[in-house]
Amino acid sequence: MSGLFLFALAACAQPVPPAAPTAEEIVARGQYLVTGLVGCNDCHTPMTPTGPDMAHSLQGATLGFAPTMEMPWGAVAPPLAGGPAGYTEEQFATFLQTGVRPDGSMARPPMPQFRMNEGDARAVAAYIKSLPRAESPE
Ligand code: HEC
Repeated sequence: MSGLFLFALAACAQPVPPAAPTAEEIVARGQYLVTGLVGCNDCHTPMTPTGPDMAHSLQGATLGFAPTMEMPWGAVAPPLAGGPAGYTEEQFATFLQTGVRPDGSMARPPMPQFRMNEGDARAVAAYIKSLPRAESPE
């Protein structure tokens, strides 16, 4: 009898496995990564004297800086809000883990070659997909 009681007690003490994050939690994590840590807005959002114009977050921008020496260079950071053109959400997450675009090429500097883990990459892709697309891409 007491053996059964102890067994029941031990069963109750088992840690409950964490519930899989909801879609909203994944988007919130992506927002934290993008706006709090990784700085996609620093390049992909039009810049103002006081920082990125968040009313046009990730709607694409011409960079306000350039290298002083000859090197491969992307002068325009394309719009990302709603998801980058020509990428499925899956391909976007892969790009953030590998740096490789859907066509097998790499983006030019100063686009960083991110090596995010899968969870972070999916969260960033889900958050960016949730943003409204630019009305008229620059
Ligand atoms: C330092 C500036 C900078 C930062 C920070 C940056 N990007 Fe970029 N990104 C660029 C530029 C410039 C390009 C265009 C490169 C080119 O033309 O080859 C680019 C290209 C891309 C592309 C490729 C689009 C295509 O047409 O294939 C994606 C996707 C992208 N960035 C996503 C992101 C995300 C997501 C973040 C944050 C996690 C981010 N970038 C942070 C500058 C930046």
